[in-house]
Amino acid sequence: MIRLKNINYSYVHDNSQLAIKNLSLDIREGEFLAVVGRNGSGKSTFTRLLNGLLLPDQGKVEVDGLDTADLQNLSIIRKKVGLLLPVPDNQLVSNVVEEDVAFGPENLGLPADEIRRRVDAALKMVSMEDYVKHPPYLLSGGQKQKICIAGILAMKPKYMVLDEPAAMLDPQGRREIMETLLHLQESEGISLIIVTNCLEEIVRADRIVVLDEGEIKAECPAKQILPKHDFLIEMGIEPLETTTLIHLLNETCGLKISEDILDIDELVEEICRSV
Ligand SMILES: Nc1ncnc2c1ncn2[C@@H]1O[C@H](COP(=O)(O)OP(=O)(O)OP(=O)(O)O)[C@@H](O)[C@H]1O
Ligand SMILES: [Mg+2]
Repeated sequence: MIRLKNINYSYVHDNSQLAIKNLSLDIREGEFLAVVGRNGSGKSTFTRLLNGLLLPDQGKVEVDGLDTADLQNLSIIRKKVGLLLPVPDNQLVSNVVEEDVAFGPENLGLPADEIRRRVDAALKMVSMEDYVKHPPYLLSGGQKQKICIAGILAMKPKYMVLDEPAAMLDPQGRREIMETLLHLQESEGISLIIVTNCLEEIVRADRIVVLDEGEIKAECPAKQILPKHDFLIEMGIEPLETTTLIHLLNETCGLKISEDILDIDELVEEICRSV
């Protein structure tokens, strides 16, 4: 479990502006937790607190009981918590794709044949197996992002923290990555902590946390929060297309379609029944 207790974090020394405010949260093993919120709400700061990249000014972050503020714990914590930063350029370190993906597993001290297996498997998972010998700097933004994701997959962390993993990907790439991640969560029990502004990607999340001004404004199962049209708008989050459509049909056409419908096919059936 990752446990955050009463966390305050500020980028400025006098603590006048808190990026994270009195945040407490338990992230369970094997769960899929999504974090949403408008620009500047604290999502990326939150992810960086999870692996000790940032340390709280007040409060405590513990990864399986290990305090991130204790320097001696950092190397174990970094093995357990894989963090994907939002901009891929900052994470690519080598001149060849396979070396880049191997960087993490090499740092874990794994034998060469195990590293080879992991690199090949990870590149396949993100459909980039044809680019093994390619220089990363010649790839597109979305392709670079896939290589970064492969680098984290190859490390097989217990907790995968991904800050906007699909933002640069095309619809097919998005679907593939989300399917791969969900498969890993289900088959290997990896915890997924995904930051996104796209609710379509997190319909299957176990829990959604909504951040605003560094505070948790809601924390509940996806099915409870996704239909809350007005609340999501207030939080600066674009509701699902189905939710928007239901809202419009009910408000402007006087229909009484259940707001809990998330699936487009189910909505079409419901509309046909209603008119
Ligand atoms: N390096 C930094 N130095 C100073 N302030 C920062 C820094 N990074 C973030 N902040 C501030 O901290 C707050 C939270 O930023 P954060 O990057 O965590 O938000 P976010 O939810 O990830 O936003 P976005 O959706 O734009 O990625 C913002 O007010 C931001 O201006
Ligand atoms: Mg961010």
